[in-house]
Amino acid sequence: MIPELTRPSVYMRDSKRVEGIIQAMQQSGSNSLQVISDFDMTLTRFTYNGKRCPTCHNILDNRKLISEECKEKLKDLLNTYYPIEINSGLSAEEKLPLMVEWWTKAHALLVQQKIRKDLLSLVVRESGAVLREGYQLFFDCLQEHDIPLLIFSAGIGDVLEEVIRQAGVFHPNVKVFSNYMDFDESGTLQAFKGQLIHIYNKREGALLNAGHFQALRARRNVLLLGDSLGDLTMADGVYRMQNILKIGFLNDKVEERKESYLKAYDIVLEQDETMNVANAILLHIT
Ligand code: TMP
Ligand code: MG
Repeated sequence: MIPELTRPSVYMRDSKRVEGIIQAMQQSGSNSLQVISDFDMTLTRFTYNGKRCPTCHNILDNRKLISEECKEKLKDLLNTYYPIEINSGLSAEEKLPLMVEWWTKAHALLVQQKIRKDLLSLVVRESGAVLREGYQLFFDCLQEHDIPLLIFSAGIGDVLEEVIRQAGVFHPNVKVFSNYMDFDESGTLQAFKGQLIHIYNKREGALLNAGHFQALRARRNVLLLGDSLGDLTMADGVYRMQNILKIGFLNDKVEERKESYLKAYDIVLEQDETMNVANAILLHIT
């Protein structure tokens, strides 16, 4: 057994099964592996020095980009819809229309702000976004072994790309599915491109991008990382999947949600701000 799996933050419904999956993945080797990860609160930290870390959307909450009024409105939306996102008493079906409402309203507000593309990198630098401890090893190990990493995010593609670029880990093996901003010729935000990705339609997003999974058809083992139950469908486009190991970060409302996370994820990491478990598994497989 991998020693990191005995850490106090690690919970598993069936540790023997986890061991079996890891062993099967190790036997197939790194050529058979692909990694699919959510971004906000999965690759980024939930808290740092006692403060909540921002999501992609919250990174834009900077006076250089948006007005005080817009800031207040986005905060009101967050206060209304985030408790719904993490409410374990509501089903995904019940949450879905409300999540669409949240994303639609937030994107409409952002578009009104005439956000300038050339300020994004500065705003990311000024934000408190922090990748989880051990991110460097995670990204570098995948790059070194030519393992594709798909970052599948309901956040904002332009923002998350800038976060990983500034961290020096936007390697060529990284591919992103997310909501991208559409800028006009003067570099001003005018809309969001393509079909909206919110936390409960990642399955549709995966199926829309069949070409990506087709190109990776020889990689039938998947390591999936997420922090929401909506993230579990990110691998639904994978071609003839053989083994999947699902790691879930349980960041918030831990006691209420633990049971549902244990049912859905093979490994649940409770308030663990590191990539240590994923890294240990990757080092074992590669
Ligand atoms: P993820 O798929 O990369 O985790 O991104 C989705 C997160 O974005 C989700 O946890 C909710 C969050 N979010 C905000 O923080 N503010 C917003 O305005 C919206 C629409 C989403
Ligand atoms: Mg997330």
